[in-house]
Amino acid sequence: MDRRGFVASGVVATLAGISGAGGGAAVLERESFWRVGKTLPDGTVRLSANENPLGLAPSARKAVMDAIVDANRYPFDWRRPLVEALAKRLGVKTENLVIGAGSTEVLQMAVQAYQAPGVPLVIAEPTFEDVPRYEKPFPYRLERIPLTGSGYAHDLQRMRDAAGRGPAVVYVCNPNNPTGTVTSSADVDSWIAEAPEETLFLVDEAYFEYADTPAYRSALKWIDSKPNVVVVRTFSKIFAMAGMRLGYGVAHPETAKKLTAYISANNTNVLACAAGLASMADDGLVGRSLTANTRAKKIATTTLDELGLEYIPTQTNFIMHRIHGDLETYIAHMKDRGIQVGRPFPPMTEWNRVSFGLPEEMERWAEALRGLRAAGTV
Ligand SMILES: Cc1ncc(COP(=O)(O)O)c(C=O)c1O
Repeated sequence: MDRRGFVASGVVATLAGISGAGGGAAVLERESFWRVGKTLPDGTVRLSANENPLGLAPSARKAVMDAIVDANRYPFDWRRPLVEALAKRLGVKTENLVIGAGSTEVLQMAVQAYQAPGVPLVIAEPTFEDVPRYEKPFPYRLERIPLTGSGYAHDLQRMRDAAGRGPAVVYVCNPNNPTGTVTSSADVDSWIAEAPEETLFLVDEAYFEYADTPAYRSALKWIDSKPNVVVVRTFSKIFAMAGMRLGYGVAHPETAKKLTAYISANNTNVLACAAGLASMADDGLVGRSLTANTRAKKIATTTLDELGLEYIPTQTNFIMHRIHGDLETYIAHMKDRGIQVGRPFPPMTEWNRVSFGLPEEMERWAEALRGLRAAGTV
């Protein structure tokens, strides 16, 4: 079947999914999600933004359609049940939660709330770019500390030195984007345990659900005892809701209040709330996302092994691998073949980040990579 055929059959199957089909292994059938997943209508495969290729869960799609009658209303009546359901899911109180239009908005609130002249804002390098982007208008002193060792972990000792004992903001992206690596939670915990209250820990757990190693656990346990810890998570990844824009911060009530002073009013919309509620109620959704991710990861690592291209073992829905040659040229070659891969993450310019897609999307990436390897481009 050609690409257009896939797209067309996907539309039909998608409609079937909306009318109630789905559940179990059938949900992983490629046709069910082809049109709503990552493959764009022109057949381009998007493996560049760490999205979930399964698309919105059928239950969430139905919830969005049902909720559309409320699209003329402000979202108060939808936010309340969303916050209550989320608090219940996490085992926290509603006062612990700050809801954002994506988790990036919560990162922005924190950067704004804690800024003051000369305050060190300490981040790893490379890491997710939104925090350093948001700090630009403010008089922070940005400290970029390179990742360390073969495990590409945050260099907590150097970050600690950079933070000092006075007011500071420390961004810990765990697992880290773009490397997909985990920084030992025991090490993060021992820093949090002894840090002064003026050190704000902004712990980004966007990929929390994907991590599967004993070295990793959530920093959520701190939020009652440590008002200087904010945990940030998202519905964009495991719940496949990146386009809906829903994320959250979890913190001590006083800290949550402090962040909320920087919220934009009515920031989460009715449809995102409806999709979030339905996604949380869908017991199989996390498992389906993880199963799909494991399949894609297998194709990626098998291909990279076959081609002798080094990669960094990942705890996320993307992987970083070596390319030999110029990164921008590599990205352009992939684009010519209809595949969008990750952007540059300096200083790791001999590496490319590729996000996990549907199996056939990964096969197209693998085929393109084989071709470039045979041509000596990578
Ligand atoms: C580590 C990390 N944090 C936060 C985000 C932002 O996610 P969102 O605003 O969609 O919740 C991303 C997006 O890729 C990310 O990789």
